[in-house]
Amino acid sequence: MAAIEREVFADPWSANDFQECVAGGVLFSVATDGAVVGGYVVAHHAADEGEILNLGVAPGHRRRGIGRALVRHVLGELARCTVKVAFLEVRESNTAARRLYESLGFVGVGRRPRYYRRPVEDAVILRVTLAQVAYL
Ligand SMILES: CC(C)(COP(=O)(O)OP(=O)(O)OC[C@H]1O[C@@H](n2cnc3c(N)ncnc32)[C@H](O)[C@@H]1OP(=O)(O)O)[C@@H](O)C(=O)NCCC(=O)NCCS
Repeated sequence: MAAIEREVFADPWSANDFQECVAGGVLFSVATDGAVVGGYVVAHHAADEGEILNLGVAPGHRRRGIGRALVRHVLGELARCTVKVAFLEVRESNTAARRLYESLGFVGVGRRPRYYRRPVEDAVILRVTLAQVAYL
């Protein structure tokens, strides 16, 4: 996963970041193709709110529905943890991810100016109300 991060993000999570997340008890799911990791999603929750912290699909595995399957899966897990609403941040220019999230019912609810580094860019905050999505 850290290798995919380095390939995909300008400001990637390290292997240690993933290990700390796992040790901290976050929700963590991996899509595999045989022994190969094709993608992953990381989320956490507190009370009735959840947040998707990370999502990545290896470039060679994209446009096969893995990203959508991972997000649907983790939203289902959050719903089972009695989460009512889930949030995430995404780069404003990240059309692929924004289309994916919007196709799953996420809507824009805010913006964090200059939130990302390398390059500096605003984050758009998206939210989905789990009771309002029919696919869970
Ligand atoms: C965003 C990402 C996770 C999508 O993964 P994926 O497995 O290719 O996505 P899916 O095949 O499930 O596609 C689901 C939908 O997302 C949208 N989408 C995905 N890639 C797209 C692209 N390159 N351009 C436009 N829309 C795209 C489409 O609406 C697509 O539905 P469709 O195939 O029916 O048209 C992947 O491109 C990725 O890892 N990007 C880099 C990391 C990243 O941006 N993570 C999110 C950070 S918030």
